[in-house]
Amino acid sequence: MKKALVLLLILIIAVSLFMFTGCKNQDEKGKLYVYTESGFPPFEYPSGNDIVGVDIEIAKTIADRLGMELVVKDVNFEAILAALTDDNAIGLAGLTITPDREEEVDFSIPYFEAVQYVVYKEGTLTLDENSMVSGAQLKNKVIGTQSGTTGDIIADEESAEGGLFEGATVKGYDNALIAAQDIGNGCEVVVIDRHTALQIEANNPNLNLKANQIAQLDSESYGIAVKKANKKLLYAINWILQELIEEGKIVEWFNEHSVSPAEEE
Ligand code: ARG
Repeated sequence: MKKALVLLLILIIAVSLFMFTGCKNQDEKGKLYVYTESGFPPFEYPSGNDIVGVDIEIAKTIADRLGMELVVKDVNFEAILAALTDDNAIGLAGLTITPDREEEVDFSIPYFEAVQYVVYKEGTLTLDENSMVSGAQLKNKVIGTQSGTTGDIIADEESAEGGLFEGATVKGYDNALIAAQDIGNGCEVVVIDRHTALQIEANNPNLNLKANQIAQLDSESYGIAVKKANKKLLYAINWILQELIEEGKIVEWFNEHSVSPAEEE
Protein backbone atom coordinates (compact mmCIF):
# COMPACT_ATOMS: atom_id res chain seq x y z
CA MET A 1 0.00 0.00 0.00
CA LYS A 2 2.73 2.40 1.03
CA LYS A 3 4.72 1.44 -2.03
CA ALA A 4 1.73 2.17 -4.26
CA LEU A 5 1.40 5.60 -2.72
CA VAL A 6 5.06 6.38 -3.29
CA LEU A 7 4.76 5.22 -6.90
CA LEU A 8 1.68 7.37 -7.39
CA LEU A 9 3.50 10.37 -5.96
CA ILE A 10 6.47 9.82 -8.25
CA LEU A 11 4.09 9.54 -11.19
CA ILE A 12 2.35 12.79 -10.29
CA ILE A 13 5.67 14.61 -9.98
CA ALA A 14 6.97 13.11 -13.22
CA VAL A 15 3.81 14.12 -15.05
CA SER A 16 3.91 17.67 -13.73
CA LEU A 17 7.58 17.91 -14.67
CA PHE A 18 6.67 16.71 -18.14
CA MET A 19 3.73 19.07 -18.46
CA PHE A 20 5.95 21.93 -17.46
CA THR A 21 8.63 21.20 -20.00
CA GLY A 22 7.12 18.88 -22.55
CA CYS A 23 4.78 21.16 -24.42
CA LYS A 24 7.28 23.72 -25.58
CA ASN A 25 9.36 23.14 -28.63
CA GLN A 26 13.03 24.03 -28.62
CA ASP A 27 12.76 27.13 -30.86
CA GLU A 28 10.37 28.86 -28.57
CA LYS A 29 12.01 28.10 -25.28
CA GLY A 30 10.15 29.65 -22.39
CA LYS A 31 12.11 32.02 -20.21
CA LEU A 32 12.83 31.37 -16.56
CA TYR A 33 13.24 34.66 -14.67
CA VAL A 34 15.49 34.30 -11.65
CA TYR A 35 15.37 37.20 -9.21
CA THR A 36 18.40 37.66 -6.97
CA GLU A 37 20.59 40.31 -5.33
CA SER A 38 24.21 39.82 -6.23
CA GLY A 39 25.90 41.14 -3.07
CA PHE A 40 25.80 37.75 -1.37
CA PRO A 41 28.90 35.64 -2.00
CA PRO A 42 29.33 32.69 -2.37
CA PHE A 43 25.66 32.31 -3.41
CA GLU A 44 25.56 35.22 -5.88
CA TYR A 45 28.30 37.71 -6.63
CA PRO A 46 29.63 39.66 -9.57
CA SER A 47 32.51 38.29 -11.64
CA GLY A 48 33.43 40.49 -14.60
CA ASN A 49 30.16 41.28 -16.32
CA ASP A 50 28.47 38.16 -14.98
CA ILE A 51 26.79 37.11 -11.81
CA VAL A 52 28.07 33.78 -10.54
CA GLY A 53 27.73 31.64 -7.42
CA VAL A 54 26.01 28.59 -5.95
CA ASP A 55 22.51 29.93 -6.58
CA ILE A 56 23.38 30.78 -10.18
CA GLU A 57 24.63 27.21 -10.74
CA ILE A 58 21.33 25.98 -9.33
CA ALA A 59 19.40 28.42 -11.53
CA LYS A 60 21.29 27.29 -14.64
CA THR A 61 20.53 23.66 -13.89
CA ILE A 62 16.84 24.30 -13.27
CA ALA A 63 16.53 26.25 -16.53
CA ASP A 64 18.49 23.58 -18.35
CA ARG A 65 16.51 20.63 -17.03
CA LEU A 66 13.22 22.41 -17.73
CA GLY A 67 14.38 23.30 -21.22
CA MET A 68 14.01 27.01 -20.48
CA GLU A 69 16.18 30.03 -21.15
CA LEU A 70 17.66 31.55 -17.99
CA VAL A 71 17.23 35.28 -17.40
CA VAL A 72 18.90 36.53 -14.21
CA LYS A 73 17.43 39.70 -12.71
CA ASP A 74 19.70 41.42 -10.21
CA VAL A 75 17.45 43.58 -8.02
CA ASN A 76 17.34 45.16 -4.59
CA PHE A 77 16.99 42.38 -2.00
CA GLU A 78 13.74 43.82 -0.67
CA ALA A 79 12.17 43.73 -4.14
CA ILE A 80 12.66 40.00 -4.74
CA LEU A 81 9.52 38.45 -3.24
CA ALA A 82 7.21 41.12 -4.66
CA ALA A 83 8.69 40.51 -8.12
CA LEU A 84 7.44 36.91 -8.19
CA THR A 85 4.14 37.64 -9.91
CA ASP A 86 4.52 35.36 -12.94
CA ASP A 87 4.38 31.58 -13.32
CA ASN A 88 7.91 31.52 -14.67
CA ALA A 89 9.64 33.69 -12.04
CA ILE A 90 11.60 32.40 -9.05
CA GLY A 91 13.55 33.99 -6.20
CA LEU A 92 16.96 32.40 -5.76
CA ALA A 93 18.96 34.52 -3.37
CA GLY A 94 20.00 32.55 -0.30
CA LEU A 95 16.47 33.22 0.89
CA THR A 96 15.77 31.97 4.38
CA ILE A 97 12.45 30.17 4.70
CA THR A 98 10.45 32.05 7.35
CA PRO A 99 6.77 31.89 8.40
CA ASP A 100 6.28 35.56 7.45
CA ARG A 101 7.64 35.05 3.96
CA GLU A 102 5.59 31.87 3.57
CA GLU A 103 2.50 34.06 3.75
CA GLU A 104 3.69 35.88 0.66
CA VAL A 105 5.30 33.12 -1.44
CA ASP A 106 5.79 29.35 -1.52
CA PHE A 107 9.20 27.85 -0.79
CA SER A 108 10.94 24.79 -2.18
CA ILE A 109 12.51 22.13 -0.01
CA PRO A 110 15.54 23.52 1.90
CA TYR A 111 18.86 23.36 0.03
CA PHE A 112 21.35 24.96 2.42
CA GLU A 113 21.79 25.80 6.11
CA ALA A 114 23.17 29.00 7.59
CA VAL A 115 23.23 31.02 10.79
CA GLN A 116 23.78 34.68 11.58
CA TYR A 117 27.38 35.89 11.97
CA VAL A 118 28.77 39.20 13.11
CA VAL A 119 31.50 40.96 11.12
CA TYR A 120 33.68 43.36 13.14
CA LYS A 121 37.08 45.06 13.18
CA GLU A 122 39.65 42.66 14.55
CA GLY A 123 40.11 43.12 18.30
CA THR A 124 36.83 44.95 18.96
CA LEU A 125 34.81 41.91 20.16
CA THR A 126 35.81 38.89 22.24
CA LEU A 127 35.09 35.23 21.59
CA ASP A 128 33.76 32.56 23.94
CA GLU A 129 35.26 29.07 24.25
CA ASN A 130 33.40 27.99 21.08
CA SER A 131 34.81 30.92 19.06
CA MET A 132 31.41 32.59 19.09
CA VAL A 133 30.40 36.11 19.97
CA SER A 134 27.78 36.46 22.67
CA GLY A 135 24.84 38.58 21.53
CA ALA A 136 25.23 40.73 24.65
CA GLN A 137 28.35 42.27 23.09
CA LEU A 138 26.15 43.90 20.45
CA LYS A 139 24.12 45.80 23.04
CA ASN A 140 24.04 49.55 22.32
CA LYS A 141 26.09 49.10 19.14
CA VAL A 142 25.30 50.50 15.71
CA ILE A 143 24.58 47.33 13.73
CA GLY A 144 24.81 47.40 9.93
CA THR A 145 22.63 44.94 7.99
CA GLN A 146 21.43 44.28 4.47
CA SER A 147 17.93 45.78 4.50
CA GLY A 148 15.13 43.23 4.57
CA THR A 149 17.31 40.21 5.34
CA THR A 150 16.78 37.93 8.31
CA GLY A 151 19.89 39.51 9.88
CA ASP A 152 18.16 42.90 9.59
CA ILE A 153 14.88 41.59 11.03
CA ILE A 154 16.61 39.79 13.92
CA ALA A 155 18.78 42.82 14.70
CA ASP A 156 15.66 45.00 14.79
CA GLU A 157 13.78 42.64 17.10
CA GLU A 158 16.73 42.05 19.40
CA SER A 159 17.54 45.76 19.84
CA ALA A 160 14.23 46.30 21.59
CA GLU A 161 13.94 46.41 25.36
CA GLY A 162 14.81 43.05 26.88
CA GLY A 163 16.31 41.84 23.59
CA LEU A 164 19.67 40.17 23.06
CA PHE A 165 21.14 43.37 21.54
CA GLU A 166 19.11 45.76 23.71
CA GLY A 167 19.77 49.41 22.95
CA ALA A 168 21.42 48.76 19.59
CA THR A 169 20.64 50.90 16.54
CA VAL A 170 20.12 49.13 13.24
CA LYS A 171 21.29 50.68 10.01
CA GLY A 172 20.19 49.06 6.75
CA TYR A 173 22.48 49.01 3.68
CA ASP A 174 21.98 47.73 0.12
CA ASN A 175 24.18 44.73 0.84
CA ALA A 176 26.51 43.34 3.49
CA LEU A 177 29.74 44.31 1.73
CA ILE A 178 28.72 47.96 1.57
CA ALA A 179 27.79 47.72 5.26
CA ALA A 180 31.11 46.07 6.14
CA GLN A 181 33.04 48.78 4.30
CA ASP A 182 31.30 51.28 6.57
CA ILE A 183 32.43 49.60 9.83
CA GLY A 184 34.27 52.21 11.86
CA ASN A 185 32.38 55.01 10.12
CA GLY A 186 28.61 54.61 9.81
CA CYS A 187 28.30 51.40 11.82
CA GLU A 188 30.30 49.30 14.29
CA VAL A 189 29.48 45.73 13.31
CA VAL A 190 27.53 43.94 10.57
CA VAL A 191 25.10 41.06 11.06
CA ILE A 192 24.77 38.75 8.04
CA ASP A 193 24.58 35.03 7.19
CA ARG A 194 27.64 32.90 7.94
CA HIS A 195 29.03 32.21 4.50
CA THR A 196 28.76 35.76 3.24
CA ALA A 197 30.37 37.00 6.46
CA LEU A 198 33.31 34.60 6.03
CA GLN A 199 33.62 35.59 2.40
CA ILE A 200 33.72 39.30 3.26
CA GLU A 201 36.37 38.63 5.89
CA ALA A 202 38.52 36.65 3.45
CA ASN A 203 38.04 38.92 0.41
CA ASN A 204 38.99 42.17 2.14
CA PRO A 205 42.25 41.66 4.05
CA ASN A 206 42.88 45.41 3.97
CA LEU A 207 39.77 46.04 6.08
CA ASN A 208 41.04 43.93 8.98
CA LEU A 209 37.70 42.25 9.58
CA LYS A 210 36.78 39.16 11.56
CA ALA A 211 33.58 37.14 11.30
CA ASN A 212 32.15 34.84 13.96
CA GLN A 213 28.87 33.21 14.85
CA ILE A 214 26.48 34.95 17.22
CA ALA A 215 26.06 32.38 19.99
CA GLN A 216 22.35 32.57 20.79
CA LEU A 217 20.75 32.52 17.33
CA ASP A 218 19.10 29.57 15.57
CA SER A 219 20.15 28.16 12.23
CA GLU A 220 18.24 29.05 9.05
CA SER A 221 17.40 27.08 5.89
CA TYR A 222 17.52 28.49 2.38
CA GLY A 223 14.75 27.75 -0.11
CA ILE A 224 13.75 28.84 -3.59
CA ALA A 225 10.71 31.13 -3.67
CA VAL A 226 7.89 30.96 -6.22
CA LYS A 227 4.61 32.84 -6.34
CA LYS A 228 1.84 31.21 -4.36
CA ALA A 229 -0.21 28.42 -5.91
CA ASN A 230 2.30 27.89 -8.71
CA LYS A 231 2.38 24.19 -7.88
CA LYS A 232 3.63 22.90 -11.21
CA LEU A 233 6.80 24.94 -11.08
CA LEU A 234 7.25 24.24 -7.37
CA TYR A 235 7.05 20.46 -7.88
CA ALA A 236 9.48 20.65 -10.78
CA ILE A 237 11.93 22.70 -8.73
CA ASN A 238 11.69 20.37 -5.74
CA TRP A 239 12.33 17.41 -7.99
CA ILE A 240 15.44 19.02 -9.49
CA LEU A 241 16.71 20.27 -6.12
CA GLN A 242 16.34 16.80 -4.63
CA GLU A 243 18.38 15.41 -7.54
CA LEU A 244 21.07 18.07 -7.06
CA ILE A 245 21.28 17.36 -3.34
CA GLU A 246 21.57 13.61 -3.96
CA GLU A 247 24.18 14.14 -6.68
CA GLY A 248 26.23 16.17 -4.18
CA LYS A 249 26.19 19.07 -6.63
CA ILE A 250 25.25 21.80 -4.19
CA VAL A 251 28.14 21.01 -1.84
CA GLU A 252 30.45 20.74 -4.85
CA TRP A 253 29.40 24.18 -6.13
CA PHE A 254 29.64 25.61 -2.64
CA ASN A 255 33.22 24.40 -2.34
CA GLU A 256 34.04 25.91 -5.73
CA HIS A 257 32.69 29.33 -4.85
CA SER A 258 33.52 29.56 -1.15
CA VAL A 259 36.55 30.18 1.04
CA SER A 260 35.17 27.83 3.69
CA PRO A 261 34.59 24.34 2.30
CA ALA A 262 31.30 22.81 3.47
CA GLU A 263 32.99 19.65 4.76
CA GLU A 264 34.88 21.54 7.40
CA GLU A 265 31.79 22.83 9.14
N1 ARG B 1 19.33 34.51 4.23
C1 ARG B 1 19.07 35.91 4.43
C2 ARG B 1 17.63 36.20 4.18
O1 ARG B 1 16.96 35.46 3.55
C3 ARG B 1 19.94 36.79 3.60
C4 ARG B 1 19.82 36.62 2.13
C5 ARG B 1 20.53 37.70 1.34
N2 ARG B 1 20.57 37.34 -0.05
C6 ARG B 1 21.06 38.10 -1.06
N3 ARG B 1 21.10 37.59 -2.24
N4 ARG B 1 21.48 39.28 -0.85
O2 ARG B 1 17.12 37.21 4.57
